[in-house]
Amino acid sequence: RIFKTLKENRGKNKLKKRKNIITVAIDSPAAAGAGTQAKLISKNYNLFYLDTGKIYRYIGKLKLDNKKKFTYTQIRKKINKIRLDYLKNKSLLSNEVALSASKIAKDKKIRNIVHKFQQKCAYNPPKKFRGSVLDGRDIITVQVKDAMFKFFITANLNVRAKRRYDEYQKLNKKITYMEVFKSLKNRDESDKKRKYGPLKKTKDSILINTSKLSKKACFKKIKAIMDKKLKN
Ligand code: C5P
Repeated sequence: RIFKTLKENRGKNKLKKRKNIITVAIDSPAAAGAGTQAKLISKNYNLFYLDTGKIYRYIGKLKLDNKKKFTYTQIRKKINKIRLDYLKNKSLLSNEVALSASKIAKDKKIRNIVHKFQQKCAYNPPKKFRGSVLDGRDIITVQVKDAMFKFFITANLNVRAKRRYDEYQKLNKKITYMEVFKSLKNRDESDKKRKYGPLKKTKDSILINTSKLSKKACFKKIKAIMDKKLKN
């Protein structure tokens, strides 16, 4: 069954790896369409999906909502208690939360707190799944270095800003296109230049540029690559 809380999936032992599972690792800058593709992959191949950015967003939101400073132990406790359902909460989607997430994500200790959980999801997903798909910034470079499939999904900044702006409009968020553009640009810079787990494309990952591709066309490309390898 799917773990209900992060704690259920922590465990003290060394990371166990299920054998013969399909692991898909995706890295991408914000709003490039990685989440959409990851969901399609998880559905099509029956894989457990984790949007790793949501965990950083959760911590970023804690920071925004509380004036008092949290210790790392308190953050760990909070993380242990959150339900995976909560990661779908719409309050995590705002621009303020995204920026706060990007700030706290520079912190090595915070990254270490969430890494163990993420790797368990990748290597030891619930039995009813054939494997896992994770998306984020450091999935190929740090978390699931030996993934069976590695995709670097990107799109040009204007396209990403337009897509994110449209999403905010649907959620009735008051934000201008220029604000979205600048915010994504700042986040790109911060995520690429930070010391721990910076976003970068590895040589062995497959580049998928979604600027001119529809969701469907993009998935078709990914599916062709995966089917070819899985048939062998
Ligand atoms: O993907 P999303 O936009 O939800 O991520 C929010 C922020 O969390 C990113 O800007 C990034 O700084 C951080 N993040 C990270 N490592 C990941 C996923 C997200 O540092 N694997």
